[in-house]
Amino acid sequence: MKKREDVAFASKIGAIAAAAGSAVGLGNIWRFPSQAAEGGGGLFVIFYLVCLCFFGVPLFISELMVGRASKQDASRCFQVLAPKTAWHWVGVIAVLVSIIVLGYYVVVCGWTLYYFWQSLTGALNHITDFQGAFNDFQANIPLQMILMVLFSILTAAIVLGGVSHGIEASCKILMPLLFLLLIGLAIRALTLPGASEGFVYLMKPDFTKLNGSVLLGALAQTFFSMSLGMGAMLTYGAYCADDMNLPKSSMTVALVNALVAVLASLMIFPSAFALAAPGENMAEILKEGGPGLLFVTVPKFMLNLPGAMIWSSAFFLLVSLAALTSTISLMEVSTATLYKKFGLSRFVSTMIILVIVIALGALCTYSPSAFIMSDYISAKILMPVGGFLVSIFVGWRMDRNLVKVQFTNGGTLPYGGGLLKAFSFILRYVAPAVIVVIFIYGFI
Ligand code: TRP
Repeated sequence: MKKREDVAFASKIGAIAAAAGSAVGLGNIWRFPSQAAEGGGGLFVIFYLVCLCFFGVPLFISELMVGRASKQDASRCFQVLAPKTAWHWVGVIAVLVSIIVLGYYVVVCGWTLYYFWQSLTGALNHITDFQGAFNDFQANIPLQMILMVLFSILTAAIVLGGVSHGIEASCKILMPLLFLLLIGLAIRALTLPGASEGFVYLMKPDFTKLNGSVLLGALAQTFFSMSLGMGAMLTYGAYCADDMNLPKSSMTVALVNALVAVLASLMIFPSAFALAAPGENMAEILKEGGPGLLFVTVPKFMLNLPGAMIWSSAFFLLVSLAALTSTISLMEVSTATLYKKFGLSRFVSTMIILVIVIALGALCTYSPSAFIMSDYISAKILMPVGGFLVSIFVGWRMDRNLVKVQFTNGGTLPYGGGLLKAFSFILRYVAPAVIVVIFIYGFI
């Protein structure tokens, strides 16, 4: 007997949990704090929040709309809405890039698994030099490889479960859990001595740092953290019910996303300051921290808490889980394309993508330059370009009536007036222009 096909989210809350799960990930907990440290703390945070409101939300709605209006996988949704045009390639490229992003993302996911394991076994308690320990771990290629493969398999196992039984069901459990723990940890971090310095560092803008690369960094972070420009929301959009309120859901996701990023930073920065030895310039250390920030500063901070093992195990478990809800969205993009476009079964599609991701992950583990290049090219070049094209598409090319129908759910939502106008205006003029300017400004 053929199983009933699982091709849509079963509930709206589940759909929001899945979308928020995609958005909230390493981007918030690992990438955001280190980017903020690089971009001058508060200044970066302000730009990020502005970008999130003005580009993140409208583009998030746009991708969901294109997906839902076409009910196709990312590679074909543009083709359905604008047949026989070059728009088709936007979707195809998004699918290809989603695989590249996943290839380096799973490497960091592997690191989080390692730190979870180290916390659980208590090994982390015996470390005195966290930077040294992190460097040693970085040099251990086989171990990183095993963890990366493990994480990829875990992701594939959920994607295999299908849209509502795999993706939605797991996100509905994982997201609330993650949030509760983050709040607990942030409160704990803020009550440490010296924490106020870290808080000020995160909140106070340093305008001397203002330059093109900080702006580009904030824009890139918006795309990365809202899962834009890689087909993820195009894919999820197709699974959303026709009566789901896309503008409101997108705002909810953006809010949750920003909150998690800020909470994670409030935990990392104050703890870094609280732990600084007298005379140590923590702001400098933070700036240098880069990818290691999460794996050097956080465990060090945890060590000082009563019940360190429990705190750090829970923290790294939940970082891993946040990452997992993101990797499943990334894997679903190409898996959906294989099974919808090429008619393969979900099992075969998932397995093919799993093998490709593991191969890319292996490359990024071996070669730090491949890793850095993947992040740079995808977040700072391809995602803004993808975002630019999506805004042009929904702003100019997509049938106006269809845009209205999607935005207002066929007139049942009271968004047809000013809100729709503002949305269209941003997509037509503001987003494309600003993306181009920041893009050029960021590179000169
Ligand atoms: N948004 C995720 C994060 O912040 C990463 C991510 C998941 C992503 N899916 C995506 C980024 C699709 C770009 C496109 O960690």
